[in-house]
Amino acid sequence: MSKHTVVPLNEADPIEARVANLLAKMTLAEKVGQMRQLNASEGYPPDYLAPFIQAGAVGSVLNQADVDIINELQRIAIEDSRLGIPLLVGRDVIHGFKTIFPIPLGQAATWNPELVGEGARIAAREAAAAGINWTFAPMIDVSRDPRWGRIAESFGEDVFLTAVLAVAMVEGLQGDDLTSPDSIAACAKHFAGYGAVESGRDYATTNIPENELRNVYLPPFRAAVRAGVATLMTSFSDIDGVPGTANAFLLRQILRDEWGFAGLVVSDWDSIRQLHIHGLTENDWDSAFEAVTAGVDMEMAGDIYGNHLAALVESGRIAVGMIDAAVANVLRTKFQLGLFEDPYVDPAVQPAAGSEHAVGMAKTMATQSVVLLKNDNAALPFAADGLRSLAVIGPLADAPYEQLGTWIFDGDVGLSVTPLAAIRELVGDTVDVRYLRAMENSRSRETAAFDEAVEVARSCDATILFLGEESILSGEAHSRANIDLPGDQAKLVQRIRKVGKPVVAVILAGRPLTLANILDHVDALLFGWHPGAMAGPAIADLLFGHESPSGKLPVSLPRVVGQVPIYYSQKNSGKPASADNIVHIDDIDAFAPQTSVGMSSFHLDAGYTPLFEFGYGLSYGRFEYANIRTSAHHICIGDTVTISAELTNAGEVAADEIAQLYVRDLVGSVTRPVKQLAGFQRLRVEPGQTVTVEFRLHTDELAFHGRDQRLATEPGEFHAWIGGSSATELRTEFRIVASS
Ligand code: NOJ
Repeated sequence: MSKHTVVPLNEADPIEARVANLLAKMTLAEKVGQMRQLNASEGYPPDYLAPFIQAGAVGSVLNQADVDIINELQRIAIEDSRLGIPLLVGRDVIHGFKTIFPIPLGQAATWNPELVGEGARIAAREAAAAGINWTFAPMIDVSRDPRWGRIAESFGEDVFLTAVLAVAMVEGLQGDDLTSPDSIAACAKHFAGYGAVESGRDYATTNIPENELRNVYLPPFRAAVRAGVATLMTSFSDIDGVPGTANAFLLRQILRDEWGFAGLVVSDWDSIRQLHIHGLTENDWDSAFEAVTAGVDMEMAGDIYGNHLAALVESGRIAVGMIDAAVANVLRTKFQLGLFEDPYVDPAVQPAAGSEHAVGMAKTMATQSVVLLKNDNAALPFAADGLRSLAVIGPLADAPYEQLGTWIFDGDVGLSVTPLAAIRELVGDTVDVRYLRAMENSRSRETAAFDEAVEVARSCDATILFLGEESILSGEAHSRANIDLPGDQAKLVQRIRKVGKPVVAVILAGRPLTLANILDHVDALLFGWHPGAMAGPAIADLLFGHESPSGKLPVSLPRVVGQVPIYYSQKNSGKPASADNIVHIDDIDAFAPQTSVGMSSFHLDAGYTPLFEFGYGLSYGRFEYANIRTSAHHICIGDTVTISAELTNAGEVAADEIAQLYVRDLVGSVTRPVKQLAGFQRLRVEPGQTVTVEFRLHTDELAFHGRDQRLATEPGEFHAWIGGSSATELRTEFRIVASS
């Protein structure tokens, strides 16, 4: 997947000599200091931190983004501490620094790794100019539960898409050269399985069997490690009885021994202390022991390491060699970043907030992230010359902060252009735009303004509703049990529908929502996630046909929350559902209990399919796939097979399509998913044009962890599909035979 290979610890690397040399000079207290990361946010100014830094009692700080303060902290570390070791300066730069891009889930909807990489590059450049040298991104937890507020920060439900975008983001943040002044260290998080928290409730337990862990949750991390990610963060969650921060199986056996990771592992915020709260340890002393022996090199924002590590060594409970190895991982990262050569940044050299390039990329990414879910009777795009008046209604039409989404500590809200502003700008005097917010916010149950909304809609040729969730409804510790549109938004849609004029809804949200109760009441439906600063211009261009929608769902949209988790790459089960073998609850009396109809895996009240499947997304073009072919019907282990199909744009406008390749391994030593994404391409296709889409698949790309947990490709029969979503039925077959 990546052009990079794992770079195991190389003793001949000059950095290793420098690490060893420095380690040899350090006292135990100084070593422990390197394993501590302190909060440097507003309440913890330089004069509070100075004594710690001077004493060599801190290796890193987080949550400071003021260039002068950061330079001062580095100065204290370099000039006033005995060994002059620079600081790692961490910050959550999740989807942009000053210039805010779509939330990661929206970025995933672009299916465009180059764009995701370039967005990360811009974020790195802006953050590095403030003195930040380490970000806690990308979050690459495979996320199949839309109730979980942190799904916003993820790349969605799929293993392959998450892995590809993980690599793109790591490469974008770190650049070609980590020492470059515009590169920052990335951090793949949260290791591992955090996306599987029970019922989507943040921080809850996860239950992930080892085979599922290896085949679903770990591959994106492995890809990030192969791409050279500098650091990893542990997960808050408890996995198979051992929280991520104490999990030696993950942190030592898999990460270090199997994958050869030589970078730095940081705990999540205070998660070492939490080992006691989990009920794994009796006290902080034991928590320090568990974390350090499991392989956590640095403690984020806690004092467990500071209080106990030295005593653990002095008492003989752990060997100093264990501390040395952890400190080496910290120092190695600092050398790799070039901090010993120059830890400072020039405050005079600041990229202009919202440079033309940054804003342009934010707009392109937002444009490509929006998914067109429904477009009956070509309701969209609006023809500007056929429209005299347009009603723009809803709590998210003109909400500059909310469109940015979660995790935007340093985002410049002044750069936000809202949909209302952009629509007005785009149509100028040609269309009379009448705006009504109608609801204080998305959660409101106050319907007093609905009558006026109906009047505004009646007075116009068409209505666009901007609905969804404000940024505060997703993100860390912001899970929901009900994922309908909050408040009385659905009622508003139903009232506007009764006006009898065209209705378009644009959903801005940090998670998939259940939209069945509005779907029939709108002519067209766009899902825009939280698109970032340039939400407005991107959406306006799509509404008026300056661009065609090209986003595809990175996550299934359920019909009702009770279907969750629902994802396309499910296992078949022994009784898979099919359209002719399910029963609806309203018809249940007609089926006698003895009939075999309905004895399959489905819900009486929701069936077995999502409302919209993974990979789905409409276009103003009309894409048709045909003639799937395979270059060979039999291939040997070690060979490559080419799967191709013809893609025609039978529509009237040029548009981008994301062609997707899915595979199924029919029989395995462990059961395999019914479909798995194995490739994708974003292609521009002109009206009337037919292109051949070709995917090359090496048998290694079909490997999985089998019953013995080893990674291998198992010979046998495979199905392969190409199409515009995971529901594609255009299929071919091939067989892998063991090499002779
Ligand atoms: C806790 C979050 O889980 C983690 O993702 C984040 O990077 C840290 N806090 C630092 O803010």
